[in-house]
Amino acid sequence: VKTIKIGLIGLGTVGSGVVRILKAQRDLIQQQTGLVFEVTKAIVANPERQRDADLQTVSLGTDATQLFNDPTLDVVVEVMGSVTGAKPLIEQALKAHKHVVTANKDLIAQYGETLAELASQNGVTLRYEASVAGGIPILQTLRTVYTADPVTEIAGILNGTTNFILTQMDEQGLTYDQALDEAKARGFAETDPTNDVDGFDAAYKLGILTKMAFGISVVQDDIDITGIRELDINDVRAARASGYELKLVGISKQTPAGLQLAITPMVIHEDRPLAKIKNENNAVWVKSTNIGTALYVGPGAGQLPTGNSVVTDLIQVGKSIDRGNQAEPFALKQTSVKPAIVKG
Ligand code: HSE
Repeated sequence: VKTIKIGLIGLGTVGSGVVRILKAQRDLIQQQTGLVFEVTKAIVANPERQRDADLQTVSLGTDATQLFNDPTLDVVVEVMGSVTGAKPLIEQALKAHKHVVTANKDLIAQYGETLAELASQNGVTLRYEASVAGGIPILQTLRTVYTADPVTEIAGILNGTTNFILTQMDEQGLTYDQALDEAKARGFAETDPTNDVDGFDAAYKLGILTKMAFGISVVQDDIDITGIRELDINDVRAARASGYELKLVGISKQTPAGLQLAITPMVIHEDRPLAKIKNENNAVWVKSTNIGTALYVGPGAGQLPTGNSVVTDLIQVGKSIDRGNQAEPFALKQTSVKPAIVKG
C-alpha cells in the first residue's frame, strides 16, 4: 500500500482536525483510494504545550526546513495562517517540489496566482479548498460543475464568526462581546478577530470565489467592505420585529458597468434562503447560465468541517502522486480582458 507522507505547519484548530480525520477514517480512506495518509511531523511554535491524546502520536518540531529537506515527504499542509509567516514557507516547500495544501485565505486571496505559478514551475500542485467557506466544497464545485456554465452572480454568507455572533444576539440575547467570546471559544474566530468582524475575512473569500467563478483578479481595494462591529442587539431585534434577519453578505455580480463587489450587512426577509443560515454556517448562492440558481450550505468554520476540506485536497494530491505524479491541473479561469470593477 502506498503511503502519502505529510508534514504539517501548524497544529491549531484546523491542523488538529486534519490529524483526527486521517486517524479516525484511515481504513475508509484506504478502502476507497488504496492509499494511506500519514502525518510524519508537525511544525509548531511551542512543542512543550500539552495536547489532546489524539495528537500525541504526532512528532513535533519547530523548524519547517526539516519538512522541505525530508526527501520522503510528499505534501506540506500549511495551517498556521498569516501572510508574512506562511508565504516564504509555502514558497520554500514548492521549490523543494512538495505539493502544498493550505487553508490560508488571506494568502491565497493576495498571492494565489503567483504561488500557483510557482507550483506549476516545480511540477507540483497547490490546493486550497479549506480557504473558502470551511466545510462547503465550493471551489471544487465551481471548477468542475461550472466549467461549461458561466456564472453571472455570487452572493453568500462567507464568515462563520459573524454569522454566529448575529445568530446568538438574535436567538440567545447575547451581547456582541459575549457572542464574539463564544465564537473564539469554539474555534471559529481568527486569532485576531478584527478580520472576521470588520469583513476582511469574508472579502478575502469573495476575492477567491470571484477569481474562481469569473476569472477576474480582485484586490481588497476593489471591494466595498463594511463589517458588523457597529451593530448591536437592538439592530438585530429591530430587523427581526419587521420579519427580517440581519446578515453579513458578500456579493460579486456582473452588471452592464462591470463587476460589482461588496461585503455588507443586509436585512434579508425571513423567507429567503440566506436568512435561514444560522450560527457558524455559511452559504454560497450561485446564479449561472445553465443551472439557473443553486445554493450551497454548510459549516463555514470549525475543526472537523474545515479539516475535511484539507483532507479532500490531500486525497486529490495523493491520487495524482499515485498516478505517477501527474499533478491534476487546478488552474483558475483566465480572462484576457480585465473588466471594469464597480464598487458598491
Ligand atoms: N474565521 C473564519 C470564519 C474561519 O469565522 O469564517 C473560517 O475561515
